[in-house]
Amino acid sequence: MCNYFNFFCLICNKNLYRMKSIKAATYFVHFEENGYTELNNLIAEKQYSSIFILVDENTHNCCYGKFIPNLIANCPIEVIEIEAGEINKNLETCVGVWNVLTELNADRKSLLITLGGGVITDLGGFVASTFKRGIDFVNIPTTLLSMVDASVGGKTGVDLGVLKNQIGLFANPEMVLVDANYLETVSAREIRSGTAEIIKYGLTYDVSLFNKIKNTENLDITELIHRSIEIKNEVVLEDPKEQGLRKILNFGHTIGHAIESYFLEADDKENLTHGEAIAIGMVAECFISSVLLGFSKEKLIKIKAFIIAIYGKVSILEEDFNQILEYLKHDKKNVGGQVNFVLLTDLEKTQLDCKVTTELIIESLKYYNS
Ligand code: GLY
Repeated sequence: MCNYFNFFCLICNKNLYRMKSIKAATYFVHFEENGYTELNNLIAEKQYSSIFILVDENTHNCCYGKFIPNLIANCPIEVIEIEAGEINKNLETCVGVWNVLTELNADRKSLLITLGGGVITDLGGFVASTFKRGIDFVNIPTTLLSMVDASVGGKTGVDLGVLKNQIGLFANPEMVLVDANYLETVSAREIRSGTAEIIKYGLTYDVSLFNKIKNTENLDITELIHRSIEIKNEVVLEDPKEQGLRKILNFGHTIGHAIESYFLEADDKENLTHGEAIAIGMVAECFISSVLLGFSKEKLIKIKAFIIAIYGKVSILEEDFNQILEYLKHDKKNVGGQVNFVLLTDLEKTQLDCKVTTELIIESLKYYNS
């Protein structure tokens, strides 16, 4: 089963699906060649004074060379490179980028293009929307995770210590350009990380997407990406500021984020990717759903087996539990000190704002381990 999620299997089957642009609230998500045409149209129309392309060392090396021949612009273009990795998604890095923008005379008619994964698009969107009270930005996600989640929906921000996305604001890009060819530059582990978000959309919103992803024969990555973005966009259009429906996008993330933060912080643990942590969170939260809301045990067992087949089994020791629970206390969705979960009554059927006891959270971690 693991081979099924082989990077090449996904990549070889791309481009079979013709991807229509998706209309978000104030912008479009455009795809592949058409995306570059639309980007150049935007640049011509807005007559930007300068363009800044935010990259990390990986996307500078692997993606910039693919991107730049497509860009047509009559203004100065500068590249700003930051260090790769979640550890650098912080205010210090933002200060560095704001300083470079200032030194290079960026003004209110400048455009920032983010070319990278979720760290680049989240941080870049935040930097742009706060610089001189806001300049335009365009997201060009280069990882599966940022294509199907981070680059769409208007959330921008950075971490505060190990607490993820604690500082940020809602700000929409001028457009998003999704080109699955950039996936050739990322590892199979990164592809699996993004796949967790696609599984999430399948479990919470569209079971046919979940069934598709289980189909080992005819996987078409572009189709999975397109449907995932459609789903995210539908949810965000209905609830842009996460007052209700958008909370379903947090399924698996309550426990998942706590595990991700704990593994990032603990000296004796190897970091998990976002998707690896969220995959564990989805198993644990399906278990809680089955105890509290009668979610089918049979489906729970199948979901756990499917997730472990893709991601393998991470060892979460009982001595880790207390620290993980500590991180849960800082979850952004908490209100009045109470942790709020999104749970499933069935596939595609979510229940928001569920209160869960500490004992049941511990039981869910034990279930994952079992
Ligand atoms: N990543 C979850 C959301 O955008 O709401």
